[in-house]
Amino acid sequence: MENRTFTRWRKKSQKEIQEIVRKGLSNNINFDTNNVLGLPASYLDQEVFSSDSNLLKDAPFLTALVHNPNHIGCHTLGESEQYFCGTHEIEKELIEICAVDILKVEPNSCDGYVASGGTEANIQAMWMYRNYFTHELSAQLSDICVLCSEDSHYSMNKGANILGLDLYQFGVNSKSRLGSMREIDSTIERAKNEGKKYFIVIANMMTTMYGSVDELEPILQGLKKHSSTFKIHVDGAYGGFYYPFTNTSNELNFANQAISSITMDAQKMCQAPYGTGIFLTRKGMIAHAGTSAKYVKGNDFTLIGSRSGANAIAVWMILSKHGPYRWIENSFILQKRTDWLCNQLTDLGIEYYRNSFSNIVTMKRCDSLDKLRSRFGLVPDDHEKPTSYKIVVMEHVSIEKLELFITELELEIVQKLEPA
Ligand SMILES: Cc1ncc(COP(=O)(O)O)c(C=O)c1O
Repeated sequence: MENRTFTRWRKKSQKEIQEIVRKGLSNNINFDTNNVLGLPASYLDQEVFSSDSNLLKDAPFLTALVHNPNHIGCHTLGESEQYFCGTHEIEKELIEICAVDILKVEPNSCDGYVASGGTEANIQAMWMYRNYFTHELSAQLSDICVLCSEDSHYSMNKGANILGLDLYQFGVNSKSRLGSMREIDSTIERAKNEGKKYFIVIANMMTTMYGSVDELEPILQGLKKHSSTFKIHVDGAYGGFYYPFTNTSNELNFANQAISSITMDAQKMCQAPYGTGIFLTRKGMIAHAGTSAKYVKGNDFTLIGSRSGANAIAVWMILSKHGPYRWIENSFILQKRTDWLCNQLTDLGIEYYRNSFSNIVTMKRCDSLDKLRSRFGLVPDDHEKPTSYKIVVMEHVSIEKLELFITELELEIVQKLEPA
């Protein structure tokens, strides 16, 4: 097991968790007893959503949903609305746990917030850097571009499109899923020749389809060679709650000075409700994303605006319930299951890609897999013309389920070899 200390992240009992959430909610506005007239907010409709104290007694997340705190804005920098300051504290602790204990930044040197998902967190990063280049370095929009691999999530295409930026994607090798020095260099050169001076670089910490992880060195070398100005964002929407635990010496965290921001996504490996992307960035940088929102106290540096405080509480509860050492153990178990699956596929002669620190196994399409596709919920890279199918070894993907799949796959292969 990893020998590492956790300064912010501590396992808590259910009682402690309940008490902290109760206290946070009680420090928020009480819509029944406080005389606050101007907020377009209240508890959830009590005729539809029960606020019966017996029902909610041991259910802190449901209680938070019913209390419906609005976490609009970013609470790690400047002022925030005082009406929900009790539960803002829980979100601030969550941001510190992720930034300090998972992604290795010094305490209190990161800002962040709980976004609607990985897509928003990635677009937030691009928006922030676009504004940084234009505000601080007097860049024109046409001087700035987004650079990432062809395996990057389509939120990069969305973000570049919304922000009016050109997107440059370097190709990857079909076996390693990595961009070669030559490919990266020629992509940067092409961007330079097309007038780009400022690069918003996205490095993947586990891609959606392959679980592959980008190497920073060839990207950094290419950018330096072409004397480019850049900022690096890590898309850890998939890997953020997994990869730092399986590859503890990895370079995609804040200990690496080249990295300025990171997306994590609690709605994937963390099993949190949807609406729990996490955006983290070095202190102060997020202010470049700000627009003045006169009716909200403080500035709103986030893309989303109003958002559910219950979501931030849910992620904090999950991390607090498990604690860091159980998290390491759980990742270890998923790694072992993934190893088992890979060994079985190798024995059956099925080609696949797997980054050895990831729980995603992407198999090359073949007739036998086509037959099992819908029965086992295999996810294709392209629904029309699949070239590969992936399995994600999550908590519910037990060895028993994997064994059934392997048995059926073997049958398909044998039947194909010996037609009736
Ligand atoms: C690597 C990666 N980035 C970003 C996203 C987008 O996340 P969301 O669907 O939460 O917006 C995903 C989603 O699968 C992803 O895998």
